Amino acid sequence: MARVLKDFSSSKPESSGGLYDRDLISIKDLSKSQVISILDESESMLKALTSRTKLEHLQYMIMATLFFEPSTRTRLSFESAMQRLGGGVIGFSDANTSSGVKGESLADTVKVVSSYADIIVLRHPKAGSAAEAAEHSDVPVINAGDGASEHPTQALYDLFTIKMQKRKLEGLKVAIVGDLRNARTIHSFAYGVAMFKNSINFIAPDQLQVPDEMLKDLTDKYGIAIEKSDSLNDAKEADVIYIPRMQKERFADPQEYKRFANYYTINKKFLSKANDDIIVMSPLPRLSEISTEIDQMNNSVYFKQAAYAVPVRMAVLKMILSGQK
Ligand code: NCD
Repeated sequence: MARVLKDFSSSKPESSGGLYDRDLISIKDLSKSQVISILDESESMLKALTSRTKLEHLQYMIMATLFFEPSTRTRLSFESAMQRLGGGVIGFSDANTSSGVKGESLADTVKVVSSYADIIVLRHPKAGSAAEAAEHSDVPVINAGDGASEHPTQALYDLFTIKMQKRKLEGLKVAIVGDLRNARTIHSFAYGVAMFKNSINFIAPDQLQVPDEMLKDLTDKYGIAIEKSDSLNDAKEADVIYIPRMQKERFADPQEYKRFANYYTINKKFLSKANDDIIVMSPLPRLSEISTEIDQMNNSVYFKQAAYAVPVRMAVLKMILSGQK
């Protein structure tokens, strides 16, 4: 981030393992030990939430949410997290009410907002926009989704969900299914999964498979077992199945979207053939990818996953803004 008004480099205690005053643009910005620290801190935040302990770590701090794309969970859970830590929130959730419609550049918007807030959470349709924002911001920037590129805090609470459900993070078989070309959640989640030495089966029709560079990068960096398939049957043995929605807004060809809109559905029939302990995860929203008929089953953890967004985002905000665990 640029440094215009604030100097955070004073002698504040830093026990957050290098997260203090940092941008979070990509899951790849984090080391495995930093991810572990965030997940540990998330567990403490969850305990505080459950016991209704009042927290004031971020009193007098302000978070700005700049959302140039629709959102329910991400914006509201970030806002809830900040307020649970005693902080305040400003921002917009509809780009049409911001000066972007007057033609203001993202760089100028961010520069100005960074003089009103201590941290910026940005969602934007353009890949690379979070990194661009960070260059012009005087305060840390958290990427809350940049086009089809990444969504790192989603990956953090996805990992947290696996840890809470499976009581471990390593040595699992993870099937990632659906629109793997366009879903930014996958482009972050797969790296988190690989970091902890799990195997991955990417299940998608050829046209929607994960980008080749990403497959190569995952194999080169982590040396984990990676398979590709297009059949949901190949997910039966998995410990975790993760299915984002088809990303309608990112299909250039509406016919192509139509062809794939209902390509995979996780339903009772699938679960009757699958590993008894399989957990079904989704960043939500779901469309037809997950049948509501399985909502009450123990395997279905997607609503719990959505709830974990708050403690995990509390941990991230606290560690970046206070430098403390
Ligand atoms: C995701 C997103 O915006 O990438 N939403 C979310 O943050 N949970 C998933 C999606 O829109 O499909």
